[in-house]
Amino acid sequence: MTPDQAADRLAYLAAEIARHNRLYHDQDAPEISDADYDALMRENAALEAAFPDLVRTDSPSLTVGSATTSRLSKVAHAKPMLSLGNAFTDDEVREFISRVRRFLNLSTDEIVALTAEPKIDGLSCSLRFEKGLLVQALTRGDGSVGEDVTSNVRTIKDVVSELRTGGNLPLPETFEVRGEVYMSKKDFAELNERQREIGGKIFSNPRNAAAGSLRQMDSSVTGERPLHFLAHGWGEVSERLADTQREMMGAIEAMGLKVSRLLTKVETVEAALAHYRSIEAERATMPFDIDGVVYKVDRLDWQQRLGQVARAPRWAIAHKFPAERAQTILNAIDIQVGRTGKLTPVARLEPVTVGGVVVSNATLHNADEIERLGARPGDRVVIQRAGDVIPQIVEVLSRDEDRPAFVFPTHCPVCGSEAVREEGEVDIRCTGGLICAVQRFERLRHFVSRGALDIEGLGEKTIDEFLALGWIKEPADIFRLSAHREALLEREGWKAVSVDKLLAAIEAKRAPDAARLLFGLGIRHTGIVTARDLLKRYATLPAIAELAQTIIALRDATQPVLGEADARFRNRLDKAVAEQIGVENVGAAVGHALADFFHEPHNVAVWDDLLAEVTPPPFVVETQASEVSGQTVVFTGKLLTMSRDEAKAQAERLGAKAAGSVSKATDLVVAGADAGSKLKKAAELGIRVATEEDWAAIVARAG
Ligand code: IVH
Repeated sequence: MTPDQAADRLAYLAAEIARHNRLYHDQDAPEISDADYDALMRENAALEAAFPDLVRTDSPSLTVGSATTSRLSKVAHAKPMLSLGNAFTDDEVREFISRVRRFLNLSTDEIVALTAEPKIDGLSCSLRFEKGLLVQALTRGDGSVGEDVTSNVRTIKDVVSELRTGGNLPLPETFEVRGEVYMSKKDFAELNERQREIGGKIFSNPRNAAAGSLRQMDSSVTGERPLHFLAHGWGEVSERLADTQREMMGAIEAMGLKVSRLLTKVETVEAALAHYRSIEAERATMPFDIDGVVYKVDRLDWQQRLGQVARAPRWAIAHKFPAERAQTILNAIDIQVGRTGKLTPVARLEPVTVGGVVVSNATLHNADEIERLGARPGDRVVIQRAGDVIPQIVEVLSRDEDRPAFVFPTHCPVCGSEAVREEGEVDIRCTGGLICAVQRFERLRHFVSRGALDIEGLGEKTIDEFLALGWIKEPADIFRLSAHREALLEREGWKAVSVDKLLAAIEAKRAPDAARLLFGLGIRHTGIVTARDLLKRYATLPAIAELAQTIIALRDATQPVLGEADARFRNRLDKAVAEQIGVENVGAAVGHALADFFHEPHNVAVWDDLLAEVTPPPFVVETQASEVSGQTVVFTGKLLTMSRDEAKAQAERLGAKAAGSVSKATDLVVAGADAGSKLKKAAELGIRVATEEDWAAIVARAG
């Protein structure tokens, strides 16, 4: 790199990093991942090391407090921070209690006491006290790892820096108090007012304002933002202080932290629901936003036994308040193209406040929804907003009949390809696939991903880089990257070793597994299992292409007979398509998807181009001898370490057949979390049941 080029690049990096800092810190709206941000910082540091004379006065490496990175540091939680399951109706709350009873095997006359308290619409925070002193405050983050906001939390008045020795309870050595950081409605309005005056960021609701204020790099900014804290639980504690949730909350309060004044203990569901209604009645006049009531099983030994499912405790539930509604005008309906090609109609609304938030967009889901509502631009509509969910239009109130009805586009607004709706599907999709810019990146990423071609070293960032350079547009281009070897060597971050490693990884996939290649093309409904099923019967990709052409011809030739109802005709056609495929477990949807794919000439071009670069050997299923060879296995429940498809593929590899339902012919049922009726049936039929772990051991033993 010449000094001129380096100077240009440093100027670019200074501006770009400053922009990302603003997005992250001031606007709470980062555009790039932390890893990508760190890569920019590293690139900047490396360039400055190579050209020390070119270090800029506004260099990101010189900004205060950011020797390495200027972001909040990440810290693992001593105990994960869980989220909550939701209940929306009284019956769902009753069902929650029944579940608790069933799980603990309690009789119906045994009292299950609960605590009930408001669910505050803020952000959760874990405060760690050691020997009574506040040593660390972390945000929830992803539940396992949070962000260190200690110095910011120290500015919150409700948070004491030292715990009081509450009553006659001893202070535990380690005590993590968890609760909600929030901003009052009044302070939120005043903050936005000030922000407007100084041209700062306007927050959309008190919760975002609290989050943006807490996650500041500069704690003096947090100090100027009026934040509050209410405790609702605890994390790691070195000593057990009580036997119930209520007593624990009392202890936390005695130590000097705030607990909701509306926290109460109830002994029946009806009492819980009554408390819910009294809190709901207070909602509008409460100084801060709440979005429901949280019930928790009071006995801590029961909480312990109940444990958690996925990331939510079995011993607690959030009873949400109903969504809030408002009226406004539907100004326009825009079409957005998703990364999978799905065309989603978005309602542009005359801005209106719903539950304290200004709403100007709402989702319309799909064409059916527009039709169901009969919505057209100009209509007066009712919108509803539930928590953080995207607002919805629930009803059309009145309209100016002179305005034209809305017509859903027949072509993709991004690439102009035909947009089609499959039989029996609600979504309309762009058929542009790889020629559609929004889909290109996702498709290429999928193509090289681990489940598909698995090309090592070709990650998202690299795909992005090559796409921007115009080096790759479609899968086949990946196999022509060696033509850019010299140019790539010139680029920042690439060395001969890394370039050659990548090119070798690509070359190694010239004879890829046909099923992975087919799956990698991202044809709808064609997952890896379906791809394998198809290839077991058709062996080669040209044979699959031929099958698709046959289906296209079949579709053309099959016409409704006079007077035949639509549904009946569709049924007949689907049956014919499925028969044509002739593969167990592969239905008409797959056939139609293949036909649609090959119907688009540019997809055929992509396919031909790719097959000119790679030569997958005819497909043979290689199976390993194993203890389940020849057996029929059923997977049920939620698998935690792998997807259902992966599990089925493993079974197949071990010479077993993966079936969808339990019958006498089943040899083994692998039950994940929350397994239901299939597990019950297995027990009835006396079929062997294994856990996910047992299954992993079977796979491991097969080598
Ligand atoms: S208990 C183990 N209680 O809601 C259960 N959470 O939707 C953990 N929240 O992440 C939470 N008020 O940030 C609990 N009274 C309350 C709450 C509350 C608000 C938040 C909390 C949690 C989220 C789950």
